[in-house]
Amino acid sequence: MLNRRMTGMGSTIFAEMSALAAATGSVNLGQGFPDTDGPREIAEAAAAAILDGRGNQYPPGPGIPELRQAIAEHQQRFYGLTFDPDSEVLVTAGATEAVAAALLALVEPGDEVIAFEPYYDSYAACVALAGGVRVPVTLRPPAFRPDTDALRAAVTPRTRLILLNSPHNPTGSVFSRAELTAIAELACERDLLVVCDEVYEHMVYAGEHIPIGSLPGMRERTVSISSAGKTFSFTGWKIGWVTATAGLVAAVRAVKQFLTFVSGGPFQYAIAEALRMPDAYFRGISAELRGRRDLLCAGLAEVGFAVYPPDGTYFVTTDVGRLGDADGVRFCRDLPHHAGVVAIPSSVLYDDPDAGRTQVRFAFCKRPEVLRDALARLERWRAADADRVR
Ligand SMILES: Cc1ncc(COP(=O)(O)O)c(C=O)c1O
Repeated sequence: MLNRRMTGMGSTIFAEMSALAAATGSVNLGQGFPDTDGPREIAEAAAAAILDGRGNQYPPGPGIPELRQAIAEHQQRFYGLTFDPDSEVLVTAGATEAVAAALLALVEPGDEVIAFEPYYDSYAACVALAGGVRVPVTLRPPAFRPDTDALRAAVTPRTRLILLNSPHNPTGSVFSRAELTAIAELACERDLLVVCDEVYEHMVYAGEHIPIGSLPGMRERTVSISSAGKTFSFTGWKIGWVTATAGLVAAVRAVKQFLTFVSGGPFQYAIAEALRMPDAYFRGISAELRGRRDLLCAGLAEVGFAVYPPDGTYFVTTDVGRLGDADGVRFCRDLPHHAGVVAIPSSVLYDDPDAGRTQVRFAFCKRPEVLRDALARLERWRAADADRVR
């Protein structure tokens, strides 16, 4: 029954894998959400807002002023970027809605949208919803660096926009200043817009997160998107935001108005407080996740996976070819039964499935004991396999 625009879009693999995790009692390192909630005082701030009657009725369309102000302060504090909270900030139902609204607002039917693959699964669907044509440029292992020559070659007179994601899900690549500068120069030269998904901005373990909107010539052509879900470990609250020039924000808001109109009133009050937490909080989450990254990467390598350690996000990409499996989808379907662990085949995040056929993504935003349990299960499975072969 699905309409033609959406047919073939996205993948049902995330739902399939979560169902498999439940059915087999597996450790779920598939979908990217933390297994512990964010700061208690922020949860209390949300509860207090509900009980005090703040945000229980439709909040203002652009988001409550307190949160827009806090988002503007956050951009100033971390990146030295100035945004007018009244006209240059928009609160959305998570980054997901921000991406959808931005693409629906800025892409005309037939426009080409370039994105680095593998990409977050909503991108292909949103480009399709907007009637756009997606043009992938492939990030390749081991480092998954953006190939800026390939990007340049992908631009045509129909190109409207580059859809970026750095730090990048699923590869964990954090685009460098030089890479972003090359992308920015191309965008300026060819008069392209850039929509940049920065939801993992505070989860960087090597290098630094640089908003592309901070580079010369980019402020007027960049829609920057982020979200509280990852940074504060409240993925269920779905509070995201857009920062851009007043004109771009107005365009995105015109679409957002007819998607959700508004959402998450009381949570907006709580996230306004969260964004003002001291630097130690932001340093703390990346230090904690770095430890978990190291734990999982070392353990997976020990088990026999080829591991591509990420510089950011909370995902690690592995290659299962070395384990004798040429197909990541089959590997991930079998793994819960064999080992009691769930992961995601990265091939579903590529237009060209051959490019990522043997890549498998694990999430490390889980408690260390959960990661250790997963690793112990994988080790037992490999040991049993080795015994069978012997
Ligand atoms: C790259 C990327 N963008 C957006 C999102 C979704 O963010 P939100 O939950 O704020 O909609 C995710 C979640 O996994 C993501 O990985």
